[in-house]
Amino acid sequence: MALVIAVDGPAAAGKGTLARRLAAHFGLPYLDTGLLYRATGRRVLDEGADPADPAAAERAARALDPADFTRTDLRNPPADAAASKVAAIPAVRAALLDFQRGFGAAKGAVLDGRDIGTVVFPEARVKLFVTASAAERARRRHAELAARGAAPSLEEVAAEMAARDARDAARDVAPLAPAKDAVLLDTTELDAEQAFAEAVRIVESLQSK
Ligand code: DC
Repeated sequence: MALVIAVDGPAAAGKGTLARRLAAHFGLPYLDTGLLYRATGRRVLDEGADPADPAAAERAARALDPADFTRTDLRNPPADAAASKVAAIPAVRAALLDFQRGFGAAKGAVLDGRDIGTVVFPEARVKLFVTASAAERARRRHAELAARGAAPSLEEVAAEMAARDARDAARDVAPLAPAKDAVLLDTTELDAEQAFAEAVRIVESLQSK
């Protein structure tokens, strides 16, 4: 099988930055799978429907098209909440599965998400589970929102993130959890550069096995 690198973990642990850099370094395509759930949630909100409504959410997932992924309103608190609600619906996850598998199957890829190593590519050669403390993740997410001009308080960001993490971890289908054979990478004390260097070391050591 082509080289698939699965990068899973909770929100704001540094997965996205890391996965994008790994893809560039190893010459692989990159897919941010959170965008699929975000775009689905957005479509449901646009229809004026409830993201927790299974029929509306499944319809939105099946109707996604590439233009949905370039929208500029996929990373704000309403989109965060809608994404984690549609992500708890089995029919939505099923609708998005083939696209994710197809993306990685031919030439290999780096995919980041919550269930890449457990469900989408359980046979991936490299699985990273990227974490950081809840306080550090809230601090990073708050700084990211502030840089874009949004102004929720750190406490609000921490509370929303805790609710979202709980929903992602407690759902019945594909809950957030490390695969048994995932390597844990805690970035609480690491900057982006250090996290990248550590991840490259892990990928190279697993590849040579
Ligand atoms: O990684 P992110 O924050 O952009 O993800 C948005 C939401 O989608 C998040 O609540 C978890 C969910 N998600 C998922 O359930 N499975 C994935 N593979 C990726 C994201």
